[in-house]
Amino acid sequence: MANQNKFPTSLVAGVVIALAVAAYMVLPTLGSGPEVDMSETAVLERIKPIGSVTTTAAPASEEPAAKPEAPADTAAGTGQAAKEETKPASASTRSGEDVFNTACTACHSTGAAGAPKLGDKEAWAPRIATGVDAMLEVAIKGKNAMPPRGTCSACSDEELRNAIEYIVSKSQ
Ligand code: HEC
Repeated sequence: MANQNKFPTSLVAGVVIALAVAAYMVLPTLGSGPEVDMSETAVLERIKPIGSVTTTAAPASEEPAAKPEAPADTAAGTGQAAKEETKPASASTRSGEDVFNTACTACHSTGAAGAPKLGDKEAWAPRIATGVDAMLEVAIKGKNAMPPRGTCSACSDEELRNAIEYIVSKSQ
């Protein structure tokens, strides 16, 4: 077996080396190959813009003039749309478990960054003792390695409270 393998291996190595040498010798000659006309006219001809037909005008210049009104309308429109969107979003408050599993689990399930783990009664007891309101305040502001809102800037206070109540329910 060992002898059988030796021959193909050196053969392959030989072919690879031969190809590398061939490439080394051939590639530099490719670059200097075709003669390129570098005269000024030839160069300008090559780099001239393709769209030189763009000077067909009047309607094109009227359009931008009409536009400023439109964006103003759209901006107001999207502003309203955004406001309208916020309400349903906060109305459909996510459950504590949902929020926890999306935003908090990275640290609070693993203990990353020294976070008190979900279910670690000892770690949570002194915090639970301060009350959910106090914990919520800490969670909103952040504390040491605990980032403000537990990195969930999209979470409403209520959702953070739900998440904390979920943590408490699992860690008592
Ligand atoms: C980047 C990691 C990280 C994420 C993500 C994170 N936490 Fe924390 N959290 C921590 C750490 C670390 C502490 C301990 C802070 C300390 O006491 O020094 C902590 C502490 C807390 C506390 C205890 C606060 C107190 O009163 O001492 C609560 C409540 C809390 N986190 C809630 C959350 C909630 C809710 C989320 C998700 C919305 C979340 N955390 C996401 C790292 C994180």
